[in-house]
Amino acid sequence: MKTISAPVLTSPHELDFISHSAAQTLRIGQRLGEQLHPGAVLLLLGDLGAGKTQLARGIAQGLGSPDMVTSPSFVLINEYRTSKRGVRIYHVDLYRLDEAAEVQSIGLEELWSGRDICLIEWARRAEAYLPREYLAVELRYLDETKRRMRFTPRGTQYEQLVESFKTTTFG
Ligand SMILES: Nc1ncnc2c1ncn2[C@@H]1O[C@H](COP(=O)(O)OP(=O)(O)O)[C@@H](O)[C@H]1O
Ligand SMILES: [Mg+2]
Repeated sequence: MKTISAPVLTSPHELDFISHSAAQTLRIGQRLGEQLHPGAVLLLLGDLGAGKTQLARGIAQGLGSPDMVTSPSFVLINEYRTSKRGVRIYHVDLYRLDEAAEVQSIGLEELWSGRDICLIEWARRAEAYLPREYLAVELRYLDETKRRMRFTPRGTQYEQLVESFKTTTFG
């Protein structure tokens, strides 16, 4: 992916770079998806239109999913298949939840208790219920086609994920 801007290293395991197009965000998602371990949890952060669902689409493709990825805003949770046996993707969008009690009632913890992969948009709405370890990916609108992307891993598994993503993407 030679066209991606060189990353800025903010802390040893963080990664901060610019995606120049929706297609590039898709490819970044694919790279990430290829390297995710079963049970991985990703928080997709950023405003409406930042590209969270676009990134999720790439991640699902990277995991070999044959399913169409759409915004789960109205249904809260979409489920997709992957090419790994026994591993599904839960694509969660908490945008419409405003009460912590509602978050509790959908039983989020169960989603990330096993081998399935969780992609969570508007994860801050469920702050109290999040697992201790995850990869946070924050997308920020710069202009019509450019988005700043920041990866912040929590936990060694996710630090290793960022390291291998860096190696495969930036060499
Ligand atoms: N570099 C980029 N990365 C991601 N999306 C982009 C980019 N440039 C333009 N876009 C467009 O921005 C929109 C992002 O929408 P979406 O992924 O649904 O955002 P969110 O889920 O964060 O609300 C899409 O229409 C996409 O084509
Ligand atoms: Mg979305």
